[in-house]
Amino acid sequence: MNENWIAPSILSANFAKLGEEVDNVLAAGADIVHFDVMDNHFVPNLTIGPLVCEALRKHGVTAPIDVHLMVEPVDRIVPDFAKAGASIITFHPEGSVHIDRTLQLIKNEGCKAGLVFNPGTPLHHLDYVMDKIDMILLMSVNPGFGGQSFINSALDKLREVRKRIDDSGFNIRLEIDGGVNASNIRAIKAAGADTFVAGSAIFGKPDYKKIIDELRAEMAL
Ligand code: DX5
Ligand code: ZN
Repeated sequence: MNENWIAPSILSANFAKLGEEVDNVLAAGADIVHFDVMDNHFVPNLTIGPLVCEALRKHGVTAPIDVHLMVEPVDRIVPDFAKAGASIITFHPEGSVHIDRTLQLIKNEGCKAGLVFNPGTPLHHLDYVMDKIDMILLMSVNPGFGGQSFINSALDKLREVRKRIDDSGFNIRLEIDGGVNASNIRAIKAAGADTFVAGSAIFGKPDYKKIIDELRAEMAL
């Protein structure tokens, strides 16, 4: 596995042929599959649930599936996603009354656990739970839709979280989600991210390998 992970968001894939889309993007060099779950309540959109995750596993997808829960409440859907084959489950602190309990639940179900921060959500939710976190996901758009523009304040936030992770000594991935493309990925990496969600920047293009190679080349500069 690469040190820096490219995580295509299947939100921008063609759902009529999702298995093929995921196969193609993985063959093109993606590291993990970013799976956006929206409930038309926590965010103003409705997407996919555990059945689709399970269908991808049955189709033969073996890469890690990174489930980004934009739902409220969180806890009751966690076991279903674990059974459906999720590898990582991240949730927004606003969606859970008991953050520590939800993190424990995810880990007890055998998945990696993470917290997601909206652009305006403060980082204090990390206090006291760093030891239970495998991934921190910073949103660089307001959640709900693909294809939005990167919000620049996320760069300062990335630097802050990178420092917190390094100071903690824990092994925590730092993921960025929203508006990532070849023109900003270098600055995003420099600010401390190691896991890069990209939806429209990849699925909007005719050649997935070409764009993933381009994203990696930009990061390496
Ligand atoms: C937004 C989702 C993102 C989104 C990213 O709520 O969490 O994962 O699909 O799409 P792009 O890369 O197009 O901003
Ligand atoms: Zn997402």
